[in-house]
Amino acid sequence: MSFEGKVVIITGAGGGIGSATAVGFAELGAKLCLVDVNQQALQNTFEKCCSKGAVFENIRINQLDLSNEETVNCVISETVTAFSKIDVLINNAAISSKHNIFYEDFLEKYDATFNINLKAPMLLTHLAVPHLIKTKGNVINITSVGGIRPLPDLLLYNSSKAALRHFTKCVALELAPKGVRVNSIAPAAVKTDMVKLLGVTDVKEFEKRRAPLLPLKRMIDCEEVAELITFLASDKAASITGAEYVIDAGHLLGGTTPDYTSFQKITYLELYQSQQHHQYQLLELGPPQTHLGLQLHHWLQAPLQ
Ligand SMILES: NC(=O)c1ccc[n+]([C@@H]2O[C@H](COP(=O)([O-])OP(=O)(O)OC[C@H]3O[C@@H](n4cnc5c(N)ncnc54)[C@H](O)[C@@H]3O)[C@@H](O)[C@H]2O)c1
Repeated sequence: MSFEGKVVIITGAGGGIGSATAVGFAELGAKLCLVDVNQQALQNTFEKCCSKGAVFENIRINQLDLSNEETVNCVISETVTAFSKIDVLINNAAISSKHNIFYEDFLEKYDATFNINLKAPMLLTHLAVPHLIKTKGNVINITSVGGIRPLPDLLLYNSSKAALRHFTKCVALELAPKGVRVNSIAPAAVKTDMVKLLGVTDVKEFEKRRAPLLPLKRMIDCEEVAELITFLASDKAASITGAEYVIDAGHLLGGTTPDYTSFQKITYLELYQSQQHHQYQLLELGPPQTHLGLQLHHWLQAPLQ
């Protein structure tokens, strides 16, 4: 597999999955436009790519906030100015925050979440389309298992990811006649700092507790997701469009879902997806008098998605 001469845009390239993906493409010879709001993280990714043999001039780093529509426009125009074309767009940047329908201020983060998780990928795709048609390129949107089966207390995140996966399929249908492919990848349990946005402070400690709850008893390295991304972006996947690939260590098979709220207190919700009854069954619950316990009660009544 080679991306020699191909031009790839990666958003959120300073984060765990984005950075590993940038290194993966760099190793395969791609020219890169790396976007992130975090300058230091971008610089780190740039250095990792160079240490893997990437040519300095073949990497552009673009520190900007994707929640700002005007700056999103710059990503496409600057990439084309620098490298004359676009072959692959990876919409990877996202944020998440703890919110559910019981929160008084649950809509407070609506704009912030949807602007980054949905609007920016939509706008970037729209702007990239004329260039992707010329190169018969492709788009990969990084969604989440939360967009398939809700993760607890992540109402806005789950909803934005569900919309992104459907957007993927809609655009795949529209662009297929033009030879442009559009796919998504839905991860879970990848070892990145994203859980810090949910209140987890010690990622290593989180991993120790999370891994045994997954069917494969392990969390996922960023490089594993990166390999799936490069495969899907490559000519080897020429017949794949409108698809969503799940990489989740078996999470969706009905493993267990941690309660991020009380994880630090060594209490967690252990949920078991009953194959027979097609509904969640409570096996173990942290402090029963919590607000979350009440929500869980409602959640358990809901039919399996
Ligand atoms: N880690 C997991 O287990 C997991 C699970 C499901 C889905 N995902 C998805 O994978 C993707 C990558 O997440 P990650 O785990 O590597 O998280 P991460 O937090 O390490 O990386 C996200 C990156 O996006 C950047 N970003 C955030 N807001 C931005 C903005 N306004 N403008 C530009 N950049 C911005 C951050 O600075 C960060 O570098 C996300 O779409 C996430 O939803 C991750």
